[in-house]
Amino acid sequence: MSTGNRKVAIVTGGASGIGLAIARKFADNGIFTVVLGRDENKLAAARELLGANGTTISYDLSQLSGIPALIDQIHQEYGSIDILVNNAGINQKKPFTEVTDEEFQRVITTNLTAVFSISREVVKKMLPQGGGSIIHISSMAAYYGLPKVIGYSASKTAIEGLTRAMATELSAQGIRVNAIAPGFIVTDMTDKALNADPERKAKAMGRTAIGYMGKPEDIAETAFFLVSPAASYITGTSIRVDGGNATGF
Ligand code: NAI
Repeated sequence: MSTGNRKVAIVTGGASGIGLAIARKFADNGIFTVVLGRDENKLAAARELLGANGTTISYDLSQLSGIPALIDQIHQEYGSIDILVNNAGINQKKPFTEVTDEEFQRVITTNLTAVFSISREVVKKMLPQGGGSIIHISSMAAYYGLPKVIGYSASKTAIEGLTRAMATELSAQGIRVNAIAPGFIVTDMTDKALNADPERKAKAMGRTAIGYMGKPEDIAETAFFLVSPAASYITGTSIRVDGGNATGF
C-alpha cells in the first residue's frame, strides 16, 4: 500500500491510553500511523478511529525474535518508517522482596528490551532514508523511583539512558531521539493503581503542583511537537509532562 508523500509512524501499545491519543493526533495531522498492540478488541476500535490514515497490527512485543521480520514487513508495505513511538509498557506493584526473577524480567523485557529491539530495527530503516524521529515513553518513575514498583522504575530509568545514548550516536545522521516522562495520566494503567484507591490518589494529587491528573492528549501534544520540524534542534532530552510532580508518591 502506498502512503504517498505522507510520513509513516509506528506507535507501540497504540490501541489504548496514551498510545491511542498519540496515534490519533498523528493520524489527524496526516501522518500514516501503524499501531502495534496485542488486544484484538482494542485494536479493532483503534483502527476505526484512525480511518484512512492508519492501521493496526496485532503483535506481542515481548516476542523479541519476531521483531526484525515485523519491522521489515511494515517498511516494505508502507515504504518508509519516519517516526517511532515506543509507548507500550507494563507495570507491576509488589513489595521488593516478593518480586521473582521471572516477574522482574517480564517487565524489563516489555519496557526495555523490546524498546531496544524495535528501535534497532527501525534505525536500520531510518539511516538509509537520511533520518527520522524516535520517542520513548518514560515515566516520573525514572526520576524518583516508586516504592513497590521495582522492575518498572528500573526499566524507565534505563529508558532515559537509552534515549541519551541513542541520541549521541544517531543525531548527526538525522535521527533525533527523545523521551517523554509522564506524571499521573488518566488511563487503564492508573485506573487500577489510583482510582481504585482514593486515599492513594489524594496523596498523589497532593504532590502534583497542578492538582489533578493529566489526559493522554497532554502527552500526545508533546509527542506531536517532538516529531515536528519545530523540534528539529531537540534531541537526547526527556520532557516531563507531569503537572509539576515533586516527588512521585
Ligand atoms: P495502557 O495500559 O492503556 O497502555 C499500554 C499499552 O501497551 C496497552 O495497549 C497494552 O496492550 C500495550 N502493551 C503492553 N505490553 C505489550 C506487549 N507485550 N505487546 C504489545 N502491546 C503491549 O497504559 P498507558 O498509561 O497508556 O501507558 C502507556 C505508556 O505510558 C507506558 O509505557 C507507561 O509506562 C507510560 N506511563 C504512563 C503513565 C500514566 O500515568 N498513565 C505515567 C508514566 C508513564
